[in-house]
Amino acid sequence: MIDGPRFLSVPVRALPVFAGVPTADSLARDQMGHDPVLLHLNECPFPPSPRVVDAICRAAAGVNRYGEPRPAALGAALASKTGIAAGNIVIGNGSDEILGLVCQMALGPGDSAVMPTPSFPRYRIGARMMGAETRLVRILEDGRNDVAGLLKAIDHTTKVVFACTPNNPSGAPLAPDEIRALVEGVPDDVLLVVDEAYYEFDAAEGGTGALDELARRRGPWLSTRTLSKSYAIAGMRVGYGLAGSQAVADGLVRVKLNFNLSRLAVAGAQAALADERYSQECVARVIAERRRLAAGIEGLGFGTLPSRANFVSFDYRANAVPVMAAMAAEGVFIREWRDPGFETFIRITVGLPEENDRALRALGRATALDMGNRETMPG
Ligand SMILES: Cc1ncc(COP(=O)(O)O)c(C=O)c1O
Repeated sequence: MIDGPRFLSVPVRALPVFAGVPTADSLARDQMGHDPVLLHLNECPFPPSPRVVDAICRAAAGVNRYGEPRPAALGAALASKTGIAAGNIVIGNGSDEILGLVCQMALGPGDSAVMPTPSFPRYRIGARMMGAETRLVRILEDGRNDVAGLLKAIDHTTKVVFACTPNNPSGAPLAPDEIRALVEGVPDDVLLVVDEAYYEFDAAEGGTGALDELARRRGPWLSTRTLSKSYAIAGMRVGYGLAGSQAVADGLVRVKLNFNLSRLAVAGAQAALADERYSQECVARVIAERRRLAAGIEGLGFGTLPSRANFVSFDYRANAVPVMAAMAAEGVFIREWRDPGFETFIRITVGLPEENDRALRALGRATALDMGNRETMPG
């Protein structure tokens, strides 16, 4: 579909206008009768570490100055955490920015990008923005990326292959041998991008992450991670790319805005990384609550997909929109998957214990109401 004024480039004319989502700020402004429960953005339900808040406050006095284009101390902290050389690390305004930069540096008309679906929308939007073709490979029944399918979709036009582990919105991680199949099967002149936004949750349960396998790859690769989830600073917008070579890191820097990170974000991120215990505690609590939330959903009669992230998804087996709307009317915000072919799936982010209780009660009411409505509908 080509739609929009002539001053927009042809690929941009074909993009949807982001309708926006309810956020902590917009809901506070709405003055709803009850405290909203935000379980639709996969945020951390806990506030940031007090050390992060302190660091941001201290940095505030210096915001008359620009920050560093590639913050050295934060890069060094990420290098020591991940074992990747600082020169191969690019820090972004969220990992969302890094994924968008991948598309900008690698793709143009005539190129294709291979990606799982449903998955994080940036791969698709970023590629289409550049006029590239998107090859969408349906995830498997249990929510894992279909590695064989991704490899089969590659041809001579393919410049980038995206994988996501654990996958959003399904929650399932890839096994090391599946990552190895990508590492070996993606051609040496194609960039392999593994989105590990939920890495810390998987790692806390024994997941190894993609880096060990990626390190064996001959061709170019990038892993993307974020401080939005397990480090509880989504609002600061800090994510990063771990590149297999200087060439990949330099490619990202070529297209990156020079001052893409605020000084507050950099200070907050450094403090968050320095308080690893706080983050690990958040992750452990979220995992415990995720198990309880999944059990509660199963108790309502819906089988959940296996999740190694901070959310739980399930197939409601009927259009999920009325359930989502009924829960939103009670102030509980969840997300229906929306993707074509998956209109019956629902994702619920793990919240605080009392928020999960409220979500389960609201879900029980909303599904009972919806099932009742459908039974009484004519035809
Ligand atoms: C799979 C995945 N990748 C990337 C992101 C982007 O996160 P951020 O831009 O906050 O780092 C998200 C956010 O939800 C995600 O789910």
